[in-house]
Amino acid sequence: MDDAVLLWRWANDAETRRRSFNPAPIPYADHLAWLDARLASDATRLWIVSDELGPVGQVRADLADGVAEISLAVAPERRGQGLGSAMLRQAPGSVGAAWGDVRLRARVFADNAPSLRMFRRCGFREVDTHEAAGAEVIVFELAGDRRQR
Ligand SMILES: CC(C)(COP(=O)(O)OP(=O)(O)OC[C@H]1O[C@@H](n2cnc3c(N)ncnc32)[C@H](O)[C@@H]1OP(=O)(O)O)[C@@H](O)C(=O)NCCC(=O)NCCS
Repeated sequence: MDDAVLLWRWANDAETRRRSFNPAPIPYADHLAWLDARLASDATRLWIVSDELGPVGQVRADLADGVAEISLAVAPERRGQGLGSAMLRQAPGSVGAAWGDVRLRARVFADNAPSLRMFRRCGFREVDTHEAAGAEVIVFELAGDRRQR
């Protein structure tokens, strides 16, 4: 919970809201209740990644029915430097250490060019598409031979 303000700032960044399934700004009280529940849940893992310059971003995994859904965000001032891709490459190992050999999935809006490139470059493959909030969503899964057992 010590990182609640940091996570709230990243979550409410305009670009992150625009790329999210619910784009409305998040009131702080709602964020606190949400974070408290997520941290208490065995079905969520949340990692904050830092380097020598400070906090870089966050990676979250939510487990349901043997599938870990990944979402991530890089601090606005640190984007476009390969850090999102570096964080995503760590995710299979971290998820595997938490839950063993589960599938990794992500859902990305089809117009989110940096995110699409990042997931493809990190070994995720498109397995489906659907519509959400009037826009196309691409469903990615990590190829089985790239998962950590
Ligand atoms: C998506 C996000 C995590 C990517 O992190 P990042 O550190 O900026 O990404 P990287 O620097 O690793 O770049 C990823 C790829 O996107 C490309 N890219 C970066 N910025 C870009 C832009 N504005 N337009 C098009 N491509 C872009 C990079 O060149 C790279 O592709 P490459 O490996 O083929 O060269 C980050 O932009 C972010 O936090 N966005 C807001 C939240 C979000 O959209 N999260 C994803 C939802 S699942």
